Amino acid sequence: MRIEGISALVTGGASGLGLASARQLVARGATVVLVDLPTSPGAEAAKELGQIRDGAAWFVPADVTDPEAFNEALDAAEQRGPLRALVHCAGRGGDRLRIINRDRTPGDLDSFAEVLRINLIGTYNALRLTAARMSGNELLDGDRGACVLTASVAAFDGQIGQTSYTASKAGVHGITLVAARDLASWQIRVNTIAPGVFETPMLGRLREDIREGLAASVPHPKRLGDPADFGKLAADMLENSYLNGQTIRLDGSIRMAPR
Ligand SMILES: NC(=O)c1ccc[n+]([C@@H]2O[C@H](COP(=O)([O-])OP(=O)(O)OC[C@H]3O[C@@H](n4cnc5c(N)ncnc54)[C@H](O)[C@@H]3O)[C@@H](O)[C@H]2O)c1
Repeated sequence: MRIEGISALVTGGASGLGLASARQLVARGATVVLVDLPTSPGAEAAKELGQIRDGAAWFVPADVTDPEAFNEALDAAEQRGPLRALVHCAGRGGDRLRIINRDRTPGDLDSFAEVLRINLIGTYNALRLTAARMSGNELLDGDRGACVLTASVAAFDGQIGQTSYTASKAGVHGITLVAARDLASWQIRVNTIAPGVFETPMLGRLREDIREGLAASVPHPKRLGDPADFGKLAADMLENSYLNGQTIRLDGSIRMAPR
């Protein structure tokens, strides 16, 4: 599906992988609505994208777990033409909780549920509301729309302390094929990127020596992922009409150790 001239929505678009995806989409000719939390620098991000092409991006503050707010963002995207692309990057890191604590007390259930709520329920909410809109589109190059979701290599090699995060991201990977099958009759494709370790603000919270160690542990290339690597794959997934129901690891072939 060609990107030139389409309307797209990017969640988590104020930062990191979402912003890099929006940059790619704008560079390839899309008009993009950035969805992110009201506290995020979304307005600045939209302004930055406007320097690539005037009026190419708007920021609509919304929590991806909130159906009403998300529908308002979809309304905004549809004002720019039929919404044909979703890149869903909004998410949070894990809670670093063990299953049992050192004092043998069990891990916190509310904390586990909150990570699932943002990362997995947020994904399903964004996907279902977006697909409902896309289903009314005319076909463009054989598709009514295409969606890219974001998992993590933690979906496959979760580390100690990542139980909730891994569960949420394995859930995103798990729904990818089901969603592609489910939405096939509407000619809407769904694919997922499982990033390795990327240089984004989410990672900025780690100590420098830990970041250097992570970069050195990538077989090739020996560096952290550049958000632009992610943005390019997201745009390629939207464009490639035969790619559907697939999770692609984007990770320099890293496999995470137990800790
Ligand atoms: N950076 C990495 O190494 C890495 C690795 C694997 C997976 N991921 C995943 O990639 C995605 C993007 O991460 P990033 O590294 O760009 O992080 P980031 O912190 O730079 O960006 C995430 C954005 O999502 C937004 N967000 C969080 N909760 C939201 C909500 N409920 N509603 C709307 N927006 C919300 C944040 O405000 C932020 O702008 C996340 O799902 C993350 O789990 C990142």
